[in-house]
Amino acid sequence: MTHWATVIGTGAYLPEMIRTNHDLSEMVDTTDSWIFERTGIKSRHIAAADETAASMAEHASRQAIEMAAIDAQEIDLIIVATSTSERIYPSSACLLQQRLGIQKCVGFDIQAACSGAVYALSIADQYIKTGFAKTVLVVGSEICSRIVDWSDRSTCILFGDGAGAVLLSASDRPGILATHIHSDGGYEDLLYCPNPQVAAVAKQSEPGFIQMRGNEVFKVAVNTLGRIVDETLEASDLQQSDIDWLVPHQANMRIIAATAKKLGMDMDQVILTLEHQGNTSAASVLLAFNEGVRDGRIQRGQIVLIEAFGAGFTWGSVLLKY
Ligand code: COA
Repeated sequence: MTHWATVIGTGAYLPEMIRTNHDLSEMVDTTDSWIFERTGIKSRHIAAADETAASMAEHASRQAIEMAAIDAQEIDLIIVATSTSERIYPSSACLLQQRLGIQKCVGFDIQAACSGAVYALSIADQYIKTGFAKTVLVVGSEICSRIVDWSDRSTCILFGDGAGAVLLSASDRPGILATHIHSDGGYEDLLYCPNPQVAAVAKQSEPGFIQMRGNEVFKVAVNTLGRIVDETLEASDLQQSDIDWLVPHQANMRIIAATAKKLGMDMDQVILTLEHQGNTSAASVLLAFNEGVRDGRIQRGQIVLIEAFGAGFTWGSVLLKY
């Protein structure tokens, strides 16, 4: 028997410390107006020294568990999307399992850069459909601030820290309607982050910071997200006008506006967190989805399109009925 993967809870965590564009203008040669006009970002949250992807994931997960009103022991699968795990192993999912005190469960991380949460939701959907899992905790948690070169004005303005969580449960009621995920490994040079400790010896001199050719990434992102919108609509029996909410990856306001236009949607149908969070990589769509649910914009029965694009390149979409 197949099941729907239905959302039963959402949660979020943002670190207390806020770094504004003004703060950045004292660190590198930039201005608030340059950053805001090019990106739509005004401030971002920065994790404290003792915070980790797993500790932030715990806060977001506890909120989702509380909203769902379930016992954490019912969770039988945890998937954490992150590129900034505290340890190479154990995975952040295992560290989170331990923090939540869940005895019996399967946990693993998924790394697909900024598309990580979309990948994780797609995987969770497959496991619920096949009956392998009944209650799945999907988390995106990122400490981008630790892989950003704070002296590089072309990248440090973009990223922030945070965690978002979604609890999915097997149900007879429609939930995730379709997912599409893709990757193309031909774009490594446009956006990457070295791991100097385990890099080939010849490459170990490269610092472990995000390297990006922003302008070129921008162009590919706009084209690719346009295609994913077409693909998602073609694969479902839905029209553009059936989509109530767009929950996009929060990387750049101009990329988001181009996708909304492609869907014929007004910007007030788009859940935006970019201005005060920046790009939180794999956490971004889950943070935005949580915000839309908790402030009452996203209502039960409405259709939501979540989409993301990231290093790899990776990209994908999740179409769901809330
Ligand atoms: N403040 C002021 N000037 C800056 C700056 C900053 N923070 N960062 C770059 N500049 C300068 C550049 O040095 C360049 O100067 P030059 O013309 O004298 O050489 C000029 O601004 C234009 O740089 P460019 O990179 O072409 O700007 P842009 O319009 O493409 O905007 C980004 C840069 C990064 C905002 C934009 O490319 C972007 O958002 N790309 C997508 C990135 C992204 O989303 N990545 C994550 C994908 S998941």
